[in-house]
This record gives sequence, C-alpha cells and structure tokens, in this order.
Amino acid sequence: MRIRVPRGTRDIVPDEMRDWYHLEEKLHEVARNYGYREIRTPIFEYTEVFSRSVGEDTDIVAREMYSFKDRGGRDIALRPEGTASIVRAYLEHRFDALPQPIKFYYYGPMFRHDNPQLGRYRQFFQFGVECFGSERPAADVEVICLARDFLDLIGLEKTVLLLNSVGCSDCRPLYQERLLAHLAPHREELCSHCRVRFESNPLRILDCKTKSCRDLFRDAPEITFNLCPGCRTHFETVQDYLIKLGVDFKVDPGLVRGLDYYTRTAFEFVSDDLGAQNSIGGGGRYDNLVEILGGEHTPAVGVAMGMDRILLSLEGRGREGRGQARVFVIADTDSRLLPSLKIVAEIRRAGIAAEVDFGGRSMKATMKYAGKKDFSHVIILGEREEKRGKVTLRNMNTGKQDEFTLAEAIALIREDRDSI
Ligand code: HAM
Repeated sequence: MRIRVPRGTRDIVPDEMRDWYHLEEKLHEVARNYGYREIRTPIFEYTEVFSRSVGEDTDIVAREMYSFKDRGGRDIALRPEGTASIVRAYLEHRFDALPQPIKFYYYGPMFRHDNPQLGRYRQFFQFGVECFGSERPAADVEVICLARDFLDLIGLEKTVLLLNSVGCSDCRPLYQERLLAHLAPHREELCSHCRVRFESNPLRILDCKTKSCRDLFRDAPEITFNLCPGCRTHFETVQDYLIKLGVDFKVDPGLVRGLDYYTRTAFEFVSDDLGAQNSIGGGGRYDNLVEILGGEHTPAVGVAMGMDRILLSLEGRGREGRGQARVFVIADTDSRLLPSLKIVAEIRRAGIAAEVDFGGRSMKATMKYAGKKDFSHVIILGEREEKRGKVTLRNMNTGKQDEFTLAEAIALIREDRDSI
C-alpha cells in the first residue's frame, strides 16, 4: 500500500503557494508596521511549558497535545499554540529586563491531535503577536486593531469580532461559585467531560459544544456581568476605544476561549464562510502567565490568527496576477544550449522568472510543453537569430512573435508584466 500523509495533515502543493506567500507577505508587513518584531521558537518544548500555562484541564493539553518522551527520557510536546513558548523565550532571554512594553510576532506550524474536519487540522499555521508589559486597555486595543487590519488587508473585512471579559483572579472565583450553584442541581445531566470540569475548571463548561450542556447554561449567570470594578472599567474602556476607533464588535458573554491563561479581555474573529470551525483567530489578555512560568508579574496581551482557515475563507476569491511573467528559453539544437543558458541567466538577473529547456527533444514537443506550463513568454534561439545577434520573443497570450535583441526582449517582457 502506498504511504499517505498523516491524518489531519496535508501537503501544501506548488499551486497553493502563491496564496500562502501573499498572506505571509502581509503578516510581516502588518506586524512590522505596528512595531512588533519577529521571534522564532522551536516547534517542540518541554511539556510543562504548555501544561502549566494553557492548563492541565483544557482540551488542548489534556486531549490534543502531541507529547512524548525523547530518547533522554524528557517530556516533550509539539507546540499546540505559540503564546506559552513566547513567554518562555521572553524570560529565557531576559526580555523582561528591557524597556517595556516589548512586542513580538511569530508565524509557524502548531499541532493539535483533534478530530480532523474542514478547517480543523492536526498541523496548522498560526500568525500571532504578543505584547508584554502593559496592563492598559490601549494595549488590548492595539492587538485587536492589528488583527483587524490584517484581516481587512487580505480581504476578510466581513469577519465579526466577538468580545468579552473573563475577569481576573479576584472576581473569577466568586463568579465560579455562582456558576456552580446554578449548575449543581443539573450536575448529572452534564456530559462526561463537563462533570470533570465541574470539579477542576468550571469556566470551561461554558465552552462545551454539547447541546445538552449548552441548554443547561443558557440562563446561567454570565461572567461579563459579574466583574470586579477594576475588570469592569478595563472592559468598558476597551469597548469605548474600539467604538471611537470605528472597530465593530459584538459583546459575547459566553465567550470564554479554550485556554486557561486568559484574564480580562478575551476575543475571537469569526467568519460565516467556515461552518463549525468558524474561528479565524482569537486572543486576549493573560496578566498572570509570565508569573506562572517563573517571572515577575507582567501583564500581557496577544492574538493568533489561523492561516489555514483564513485561506479557506478566501478560497475562490482570486487575487491580482501582477508580476507573473515567466519566460521559457529554448535553443533549437544542443549546440546552442550553452548560449541559451547565458540568456536565461541574464533574464533572471533582470528580475524576471525564467526557465531554460534542457534540450533533447523536438522543437514541436518543446513548444507544446511550454504551452502547457503556462509560460507568459518564450524566447527561441535558432541559427538565424544567433547570426544576427538576436532572439525570437513570443508572447504566449497574444501569439505574437518577432526578433529582438535580448535587451529589447527583456524590456518588452517587463512592459507586458506590468500590464498583466
Ligand atoms: P486559539 O484560539 O486556540 O488561540 O487558536 C487561534 C486560532 O488558531 C484559531 O482561531 C484558529 O483559527 C486556529 N486554529 C486553532 N486550532 C486549529 C486547528 N486544529 N486547525 C486549524 N486552525 C486552528 C491560541 O492559540 C492563543 N495562543 C492565541 C493567543 C495569542 N492568545 C494570546 N496570544
């Protein structure tokens, strides 16, 4: 039997790369414009980086993490998300000793062993940003605006921003008590996961997708209306800034997110195009995480965007094809192969993508190949052209061809390229 790609993963084949490059170009542009600097951390970490930060009882850590012992017997996990690794690196490189706030962005594959479906993969790509050292609502708003700008720039203006506050270590325990009091009479009706969450992490119950559980907490008290004065003011200020900056949002009191480290602001961007996996990106504030991983108390806020889902939402939109000239250089016989190699090198030096025919087959077969491979131009070097110091340039879209010097041909290809 032929070996296939592991379940929940996929190859990104050359035809798809243009869309990926486009998004990658934009993510670097947006992050840099906001003053975020790129950081690259390993795709695996010691497991406790995630279990201590994302939370032992979260689905991500308890059920979805690729964790194993390495040959030295150490507990290792493929990263299921980026934030915990960035906090680990923040402390490791003593970025906490530098002037704050300090801002990072990252892009790369993450791994979660969930049931694969459209928009949910076991290896997926995130673009994330993390801002350390400010507890001020303006930092939350900056991170949200950055994500909004990115989505607008790539053509996903219609995604909806859902916003909530999940409180802090002062008000959340009180809220949890109220929630437990509400759910206690129905404890046996909860799904098996939520019965465990009831003990370990009651807030997680609000994130359960099981219908029977959702029915039970439909009229449960909402965290949004059980905040302490500090959290309430913070939440109101975030909303106020967003309104004044013209960023649309909807307060969603049921939004608790699947990671334990959040405090205060939690948000998600959702798209209508995606069915069940409708979260394009999400984030929030995590004021206790640096401390949990061994640092001083350092407020922080961030967001991560799911690139695979973004591409799914963009599918079929088509993007501009400017600058897509691709030239194919053909020599009529092997004796002119070397001059054709020199020609192709010169075209590439002019900043135009060009390939050369390796020879060994008829002109007819070569032209047929060029037609199938979507070259925009073909340059032919034959005996006549060589004698006159020229080449034949054929525009594959119009079918027009003529003899030119190589410099003239390059200028014409450039003109064509700018009008494609
Ligand atoms: P998250 O909500 O778990 O947050 O993931 C962020 C985004 O990653 C999701 O909105 C989704 O688009 C994408 N994503 C998650 N799981 C999958 C999957 N299995 N397949 C495809 N895409 C997926 C975090 O990871 C936090 N670290 C975000 C954050 C940064 N909070 C603060 N800073």
